Amino acid sequence: MSTSIPQAGIKASEPLRPEPATVLEVIAETANIKTFRIAFDDPALAESFSFLPGQIGQLSILGAGESTFAISSAPSQKGRFDFSVMKTGVVTSAIHELSAGDRIAVRAPMGCAFPTDDWKGKNVVLVGGGIGMAPLRSLLFYLLDHRDDYGELTLVYGARTPEDLCFASDRRDWEGRADLDFAATIDTACTGWDGCVGLVPSVVEEKAPSPENAVAVTCGPPIMIRYALQSLDKMGFREERVYTTLERRMKCGIGLCGRCNLGPKYVCTDGPVFSLAELRELPDEL
Ligand SMILES: Cc1cc2nc3c(=O)[nH]c(=O)nc-3n(C[C@H](O)[C@H](O)[C@H](O)COP(=O)(O)OP(=O)(O)OC[C@H]3O[C@@H](n4cnc5c(N)ncnc54)[C@H](O)[C@@H]3O)c2cc1C
Ligand code: FES
Repeated sequence: MSTSIPQAGIKASEPLRPEPATVLEVIAETANIKTFRIAFDDPALAESFSFLPGQIGQLSILGAGESTFAISSAPSQKGRFDFSVMKTGVVTSAIHELSAGDRIAVRAPMGCAFPTDDWKGKNVVLVGGGIGMAPLRSLLFYLLDHRDDYGELTLVYGARTPEDLCFASDRRDWEGRADLDFAATIDTACTGWDGCVGLVPSVVEEKAPSPENAVAVTCGPPIMIRYALQSLDKMGFREERVYTTLERRMKCGIGLCGRCNLGPKYVCTDGPVFSLAELRELPDEL
């Protein structure tokens, strides 16, 4: 089961009302992905806001609309939070136009988090691709902040080319850590890249982390998730110990409109984090 926590940023009386916020900083990650560092304008809300890794939020821009994104920053970071946004259509293009100082509106946190308390004492394997690294970034920060609670940590993060890999400064930190087994990989070899080459699932198989006393989490493009799940299954990871997050289109984000339903579940409130065992009980989504 994933974990739900009190929604500090969303006022219980007005769960549909976006709260005014300001963009503090914009980091260009790739040609079409930017990270937006944001703070609520209300100082009390900014101070009290908290979330757990895997939780999501809705960003809205007047005249463009509202869209759902994973919170990608460290839960321990107080006073501000990050969303990493890939430009795909109307709302994300409007968000990409924003600069530091611009206003935005936010409803967050929403949804359930990764069940990190249940994972204490276990090894954790993270498998990410492309913008799917956004929720995993938050999760990794959390695990590193509580490093003694977990066993071995492995991260395989891939993208098509070196230019498509996000979070360059984080990656430098992760590469330098002795307590994290990290590999960044690209699909095909190219000049200037001396790191791993190969599709994410095959790199996970090469690393061969033991499934004993371990959980695995995979987020990324559906095709990558599909093959990563096959690899994890082949390696012996049990379905109830493998997690992913679902990206189902949302509207209300609070279980009212039925827009995001998957069988009897609402992705906005029952997810977006699900174990593979839970997904097996639902209409085929992967
Ligand atoms: C739980 C959840 C977490 C997400 N986290 C992130 C994140 O961290 N970073 C990020 O960049 N994106 C994330 N997304 C996807 C993001 O919500 C969509 O890309 C965004 O809503 C597109 O809005 P738009 O108005 O720019 O696109 P539109 O103009 O509405 O659509 C552009 C194209 O994208 C497709 N599309 C739009 N939304 C989705 C969706 N949810 N799933 C599949 N295809 C879609 C449309 O069918 C269309 O082809 C997440 C989605 C969900 C549901
Ligand atoms: S988005 Fe409305 S019920 Fe999930």
